[in-house]
Amino acid sequence: MTETLLPPTDEERAAMVRVDQAGEFGATRIYAGQRAVMGDRGPVASAIAHMAEQEERHRLKFDAIIAERGVRPTALAPLWSAAGFALGAATALMGPRAAMACTAAVETEIDLHYGQQLDRLGGSDPALSATIAEFQAEEVEHKAEAIARGAEEALGYPLLSAAIRLGCRVAIRLSERI
Ligand SMILES: [Fe+2]
Ligand SMILES: [Fe+2]
Repeated sequence: MTETLLPPTDEERAAMVRVDQAGEFGATRIYAGQRAVMGDRGPVASAIAHMAEQEERHRLKFDAIIAERGVRPTALAPLWSAAGFALGAATALMGPRAAMACTAAVETEIDLHYGQQLDRLGGSDPALSATIAEFQAEEVEHKAEAIARGAEEALGYPLLSAAIRLGCRVAIRLSERI
């Protein structure tokens, strides 16, 4: 049986923009939590500062898209603000490798998420697809950098990574709807 997949509806594309803005906002909050703990010192501080800058750019762009398209932002922003900051601070307290493990886990899910959105969009919304593809490439760089800086050597990495990835998936599902 072949399934004819219709192009995404306006509502679906609004949900995509909503969740992406929520996610990029959450990313800035994770790095804010990490930087609050680590400051500007330590082996991964400069990497985190660079990633945080890019996340800020991603967030600003999705803020603009939300405004342009009149999309309702997620009502869960206060929750993602607190949860993101707490996740960043907690992993930074565990050490630089755990902070990098957090980035690697988050970016693994975001890469998958953006890839699924690009598949779903096809050629239906080239402007949105271009933004998503650009940011996805940077998220993949963040993940690679985190792994290069010892993410996988963090104590309890498999469990830590699995827990963070699960949290991301739940946050994505919720932010599409709420
Ligand atoms: Fe991002
Ligand atoms: Fe990122």
